[in-house]
Amino acid sequence: MNRLPVVAEARAGTSAAKDALAADGDADSGVRVRLDGGIGAEPDAGPARGAARLPVRRLRVDLARGFPRLWCGGDAFRTHFMNALSMSFPVGEQFFIDSVKKGVATLAPGQQARWDEALRGFVGQEATHRFLHAQFNTELERQGLKNHWQHWAAWRIERGRDMHPVNHVAVTAAYEHFTAVLATGLLRQASWLRGAPPELALLWRWHAVEESEHKTVAFDLYRAMGGSERRRILWFAYIGLQFFVESGLQTAINLWRAGLWWRPRTWWGGARFLLGRGGVWRACALPLLRYLRPGFHPAQLADAAEMAQWLESQRAAYTIVAG
Ligand SMILES: [Fe+2]
Ligand SMILES: [Fe+2]
Repeated sequence: MNRLPVVAEARAGTSAAKDALAADGDADSGVRVRLDGGIGAEPDAGPARGAARLPVRRLRVDLARGFPRLWCGGDAFRTHFMNALSMSFPVGEQFFIDSVKKGVATLAPGQQARWDEALRGFVGQEATHRFLHAQFNTELERQGLKNHWQHWAAWRIERGRDMHPVNHVAVTAAYEHFTAVLATGLLRQASWLRGAPPELALLWRWHAVEESEHKTVAFDLYRAMGGSERRRILWFAYIGLQFFVESGLQTAINLWRAGLWWRPRTWWGGARFLLGRGGVWRACALPLLRYLRPGFHPAQLADAAEMAQWLESQRAAYTIVAG
């Protein structure tokens, strides 16, 4: 168990915690913070307060009608990068659901009850994402694209099946950090979805908001299971590398199959999207790397304002069905 000397400790919600987190944190997260940066395993911990109530929303979208091939504003690279991400979701999100369920089952019976609500919300949100992205992916198949990422992911999941659940939860927490950082980018950078049909923009931003809402669940569970900082950081470094390789490969395959590989416009758009002002690199590189810092907690990604604003502005587009 990874425990460093505690210099100070504060429970969020108190003024001390608010002061402690004011620099770059979320004072309402309910996260226990050790100010020496030595956050370690928290075997008594439950989910962060915000994560205990995770609403499950039914979105008013109908993907059965299909959508244009270059749905993301006619931009080939943006469209096929987003398509690649969607291809990874159904298998990946099922793995996240299975991992947190297995993780909670390893806790002492008295402690498991504290996770009931957060687990139900997490599973409800991820299951809804899986369902809608499976529909989205069916349309991509109809358009002639081939989902390789799901097979790479399924192969890895099979190979890692016998690992201790703390590793599955560490992998889930690492991916959840990726999705939370991308989610913040998607909510802040209007250019990422510029020109997308309203229904698809709604689908992606709804998913982004819910990723942000439940970004602490797997992380806190990992700590409650006694996972060390070293293991968390090593898994993230591995997952990060894998994510860049697989998202890049699937995007390239999509562009190839769509016959867009040789168009200079494809790569010019890609360079602008990845490296330009408001692009993926500038929006995501630093927040992603923060995960490598001992003592990091995902509640330190301050994106609550964007989330609340979006949810309010889209109130007519969804119904809360649970939570
Ligand atoms: Fe999701
Ligand atoms: Fe998620």
